Amino acid sequence: MIKNKVTDYYDKKAKYYDVWNIHTIRLTYVDINFFEKVFMEHGIIPRTVLDVGCGTGRLSLGLAKKGYMVTGVDVSSKSVEIAKNKVNDYPAKFVVSEISKYRPSERFDCAVSGDDVVGHFISNSYAVRSMSAVFRCLKRGGIFIFDAANPDSKRRYPKLKGWSAKLGSIKIKAERRSTFYDDGTYEWSDKLKVYDNGKYTSMHLENKIKIRSPEEWTRILNKAGFSEVEHRPAILQGGIPRIFYYVATKY
Ligand SMILES: C[S@@+](CC[C@H](N)C(=O)[O-])C[C@H]1O[C@@H](n2cnc3c(N)ncnc32)[C@H](O)[C@@H]1O
Repeated sequence: MIKNKVTDYYDKKAKYYDVWNIHTIRLTYVDINFFEKVFMEHGIIPRTVLDVGCGTGRLSLGLAKKGYMVTGVDVSSKSVEIAKNKVNDYPAKFVVSEISKYRPSERFDCAVSGDDVVGHFISNSYAVRSMSAVFRCLKRGGIFIFDAANPDSKRRYPKLKGWSAKLGSIKIKAERRSTFYDDGTYEWSDKLKVYDNGKYTSMHLENKIKIRSPEEWTRILNKAGFSEVEHRPAILQGGIPRIFYYVATKY
């Protein structure tokens, strides 16, 4: 089995992350409009927002541009460096930390997390520790909104074999080998051809995530202190949701 190596993987990928990001339908769903829709449904108008696993700042900066005061936290220093370079005058700041070790002095109105960051919480005990940290970061009445893949969809639909994307002068072509195990572990190995400003390089990137059912996530979130957890299906493929999104409330 492939080892869990989140920091290494995202540090390597950081420079190309924004190119990578444009190829996926999932990210066109889990975007700023999506989060604002959920804020409205829950009758909250957050001022301060914590972005868990902010990466290169896709959501943090999108929310900051709309006036929210955002703090993005990510374990990949290279990704955070890229996010910081895009801040300009927007109300966003970024911190390099594993979420489980993040101890801010302030409490946030809301926390968000996009594109299955939580899948990187591989063991159940680590997932509870990480979710407990998010719980501690929230004010009472605060909510945590995140998306996670649906194991039934992964089981049922053919594997992604590869993809290609282009952004500015960078073009990427990737071939993927992947395995989905009975325990919900999804691991992949990508061979990338990168054309950057006329120069060609190749990269090999591999990693894994843990894909859990809504029942498993609800148990973990309850253990972390969230007494109310809702989940909703999204992005239907042949009637089966590719993802669920979760809204966990701190009372
Ligand atoms: C799939 S990317 C999503 C990035 C961003 N949320 C987006 O939608 O563009 C997952 C991110 O989560 C970060 N991450 C994974 N595990 C983490 C942890 N335990 N604490 C903080 N960040 C983590 C990774 O470094 C990576 O940047």
